[in-house]
Amino acid sequence: MKALFVCHDQEEWALLHKIFASHFSKIELMCVLNTKDALEFLSFEGPFGLILIDAGMKDEDPMSLAENVIENSGDRPIIFIGEAHVLKNRIKGDTYLKSETMDIFEKPYDIIRFKECIQKSLNWAKKEEFEQSVIEVDRADFLPIKLRNLYLFDKIPFDCFIELTRTKFIKAFSKDVPYSQSAIQDLSKRNIKFLYLKKDEHLQFLENSLKRVMNNLSRELPPLKMLESQISGALILQQFVKEIGVNEGVIELADKIITSVHETYGSYQDFPQLLQSFPFAHRDSAERSILIFYFCEAICRGLGWSSDLSKKKLGLAALIHDTHLEQEEMLRLGSFDHPDMEMYPEEAQANYREHPRKAAAIANFFSGFSDAEFIIEQHHELPDGTGFPAKLNSNKLTTVSCVFITAHYFVNQLAASKVNMTSIIRILNEMKAPFNVGNFKEPMLILIKAIKG
Ligand SMILES: [Fe+2]
Ligand SMILES: [Fe+2]
Repeated sequence: MKALFVCHDQEEWALLHKIFASHFSKIELMCVLNTKDALEFLSFEGPFGLILIDAGMKDEDPMSLAENVIENSGDRPIIFIGEAHVLKNRIKGDTYLKSETMDIFEKPYDIIRFKECIQKSLNWAKKEEFEQSVIEVDRADFLPIKLRNLYLFDKIPFDCFIELTRTKFIKAFSKDVPYSQSAIQDLSKRNIKFLYLKKDEHLQFLENSLKRVMNNLSRELPPLKMLESQISGALILQQFVKEIGVNEGVIELADKIITSVHETYGSYQDFPQLLQSFPFAHRDSAERSILIFYFCEAICRGLGWSSDLSKKKLGLAALIHDTHLEQEEMLRLGSFDHPDMEMYPEEAQANYREHPRKAAAIANFFSGFSDAEFIIEQHHELPDGTGFPAKLNSNKLTTVSCVFITAHYFVNQLAASKVNMTSIIRILNEMKAPFNVGNFKEPMLILIKAIKG
């Protein structure tokens, strides 16, 4: 089989020739300088089973080159190669995201990753496999799982698919075939957040994940691994609640996460230390929930509340308060008055307005967690009465709600900033005056003390 590399830099040709000679001896690599030569080679030297394109080529747009290749020679695997920032700036647009054959490889040439990337494209190139893996389905037969779930395993007992169109899916991971963590990262770089499983396998997958995460939370892990497991726990719990509902396993998991946060809290000397190591990379609902709960825990300790009851209430509120937000990326808005709110369709806005009430109703299904309902319903209220849904002000909110709102507001502000001491101090300063009222006073002072010492 032949592969074609399009790149201005002839030193890079030599490097790739070496790599191919030692790792893909059956592939004949040919190199060309530009689009013109590439098209000529495709017509006269082909067929090529794989095209590699230097994403950093000057004077040529790698995406249009790829489109040109496809137009001239039909669909085939294309890999864009470049430094992270080059890939980010130059490989974008719908064509790439929707394509099932285009991939990216981030330099430097780490041999293991590079081999995986090439192998993946080669697999796709095998026509039969390719045709088998694209399936046309009734969308109602599939349910989504977050891509991030796959980090919990190294293989899963079901085929997982990526959505190409409303009715077309392509296989991303095959049943029982081990996959690497970098294969998950590659999908995530292509902005793929969800994988799809057949409906009957979906529940089984979440149940397996729940068992796995319960197991991790029961082990003695170093604090950072524990934080990661708590976040995975929140991730699974939130999907369960959203897609399936509440069952005994989910209640047990909520309990386990809450106890585990309580125990891990003690491993950190102070809050700045915890914040520094907290894995806040995705800033999604799972990460926010766990961080909110750590702040609630700090405030409870400051208030001298030692009862398990208030911790359980706050913990449950932290875990499920945003589960009914249909578009998770709306989390970044933080409030109903955010100027970007208008960008969303009316339905999404209505769902945003309703999500506190919807999640509150779910709290009742968690037996043994009394009264988290009102905390969840009030999580977007504000001290001056400008929040939603009920526009309650500080006089109408109980201390436990104020604890949650303070922690929640702080984490939302933090999620919109860089996590460093400068932004933390800025956020605290901005909150200080408006939160210095009624039942917010004490939680706010404790929050400041927990962070500033
Ligand atoms: Fe929230
Ligand atoms: Fe919310």
